[in-house]
Amino acid sequence: MTIIDNNLVQTFYKKRKPNTHKGDFGHAFLIVGSPNKMGAALIASKACLRAGVGLLTTNVPKEEKTSVTNFIPEAMLYFRENSIDFTPFNAVGIGPGLEQNEASQKIVYTSLLKVRKNLVLDADALNILAQNPDWFSQLPKQTILTPHPKEFDRLFGTHTSEEARRETAHKKATQWNCIIILKGHQTFITNGIDSYENTTGNSGLAKGGSGDALTGIITAFLAQHYPPIHAAIISVYLHGLAADITLSKQSEESMLISDVIENLGWAFKKIA
Ligand code: APR
Ligand code: MG
Repeated sequence: MTIIDNNLVQTFYKKRKPNTHKGDFGHAFLIVGSPNKMGAALIASKACLRAGVGLLTTNVPKEEKTSVTNFIPEAMLYFRENSIDFTPFNAVGIGPGLEQNEASQKIVYTSLLKVRKNLVLDADALNILAQNPDWFSQLPKQTILTPHPKEFDRLFGTHTSEEARRETAHKKATQWNCIIILKGHQTFITNGIDSYENTTGNSGLAKGGSGDALTGIITAFLAQHYPPIHAAIISVYLHGLAADITLSKQSEESMLISDVIENLGWAFKKIA
């Protein structure tokens, strides 16, 4: 087991060079949000942009477009009603704020078939996968799954300890050639070969929306051409580090995920 700390992250973090343009930092696509859960879409989108992506397109229901344009003018929009052309995108994140209806099921399945790499599945995308276990064999190589313990158990069966979940995660990551981020205090990451444990973060993250931000950050690093395992490690580390930095002005009680996202910049300065 490798500990995720500043030293590890510095071995692969790519500092931005002066002579670069947005094309160097990729185009992320987030399929997020539904009428009652647009907050998750906004959180994931904002976090994605704060993690350095060159371009972001956000896929939301058409009637929800003003919330994205008002809150995140930097994001482009792609309405949910269109059938999706994935070719412009370097990385795709699906799940925060999605529903588990038939339309969402179709989107998840289409994505498994059409996105050949750099895919992140979270929240209801994972719950949909749990309801369709035969889809595991369709996962693009090195797809990143980001379950919290309950989502993990829906995917892989009930477990009674974190240790048991970690063992299963390792086996399943090998079986399906994917990366599993088992979220919580000391988040665990495995690609079925190597395993990692995070050292950053605090209970201020134990609130709705924290996981949505992580999905946005991972999608941003995939779009920036980080290998999936590195994208997983650096995202989990920075997400927790930004939460730790937030403690200088907020408490674990008062912290909002929006505060954490605003502190991502300070977290980047600590690894630069
Ligand atoms: N210490 C450190 N990190 C923590 C702690 C803690 N005590 N508690 C939570 N975290 C981190 C986790 O590691 C993870 O990155 O906060 C994040 C929580 O992610 P989720 O459990 O996915 O929480 P949430 O953002 O509320 O998910 C939003 O998606 O999972 C679905 O149905 C769920 O409606 C919910 C939505
Ligand atoms: Mg979540």
